Amino acid sequence: EKGGHKHFMAKEIAEQPTVLSDALSHYLSGDTIDLPDAVPDFATIDRIVMVACGTAYLACATAKYWIERMAGIPVEVDIASEFRYREPPIGPNTLAIFVSQSGETADTLAALRHVAEKAQILSVVNVAESSIARESDVALPILAGAEIGVASTKAFTCQLLVLLLLALRAGTDRGRLAPETLAETLEGLRTLPGRMNQALQTSDRIAKVARKLAEADDILFLGRGQMYPLALEGALKLKEISYIHAEGYASGELKHGPIALVDRTVPVIVMAPHDALFDKTVSNMQEVMARGGQIVFVTNSTGAAEAGDGAMAVIEMPDVPDVLAPILYAVPAQLLAYHTAIAKGTDVDQPRNLAKSVTVE
Ligand code: M6R
Repeated sequence: EKGGHKHFMAKEIAEQPTVLSDALSHYLSGDTIDLPDAVPDFATIDRIVMVACGTAYLACATAKYWIERMAGIPVEVDIASEFRYREPPIGPNTLAIFVSQSGETADTLAALRHVAEKAQILSVVNVAESSIARESDVALPILAGAEIGVASTKAFTCQLLVLLLLALRAGTDRGRLAPETLAETLEGLRTLPGRMNQALQTSDRIAKVARKLAEADDILFLGRGQMYPLALEGALKLKEISYIHAEGYASGELKHGPIALVDRTVPVIVMAPHDALFDKTVSNMQEVMARGGQIVFVTNSTGAAEAGDGAMAVIEMPDVPDVLAPILYAVPAQLLAYHTAIAKGTDVDQPRNLAKSVTVE
């Protein structure tokens, strides 16, 4: 049942090229993004609220960058347990998007019911017959297949994929996304499963780095722009299964407080593809190095050549179009958590105190 892997989590990490490719075949016909008719025309939407918990929330936080940039629609992202007790102003043209692997998370379902009468409800779920799917105006399956490990892995990357397709559709509906940009991104998406396979090849190297990480009491993750939510996700995954205290920060926030924590004992994982914000992130990374911080630098070959010197380890990712980096770089984030937990000897698939589906408040 674990397909030759030691843990469901390892199996689910390894399955990502396959499930992403299945989801792509489901949602793409040629250069057309095939979505159900019930998905609203984004030209009629003037605001989007996205609501979820945990890893699904971090998929939403990533999608905010995409939707705002491609479609120019303001996006608010909220944690379900907060949203359900707020009085969020919902106008007639508000689209509410709920993201949940299980489709049964109590807070997310309650948040959906909180606005069901007022907003159009779209959900992004893995379990197609779940409560959240049933109570939505339209539900988009992420097609990740059953996810057993408590730590969400393949569901996260499939959520990102479906949310990216929605962002592309939204940008097209609003006439803001150049057809060439759409075509390039879809082309990049078609090569993504292959790139993910390459990213998976870093597993042994990451296992070595993880032996050092396992000695730490605190670990920081840094990212900027669309890589910031992934820094949060890397930290969430690591603390969830290795029980090491980890925090993700927007790299520009470092000097506003967290840099005070940095010394030789605090590893800092930097997620930085060579994109438009690379130099900014690197300058934050150098501030960490100057204070003795041990850097694990996750970047592509250009990034490694330009700024890899002085890092404790460089994990090299293949090149992908910038917009796809959060999906690809999720793999090393997952592997770092997985191998660190293995080095610590914790129960990777069933971490203490956690349930796969949180169906109580
Ligand atoms: O089933 P859901 O996607 O609604 O679950 C939400 C969170 O409970 C879940 O993502 C949790 O944070 C994971 N254990 C993280 O790995």
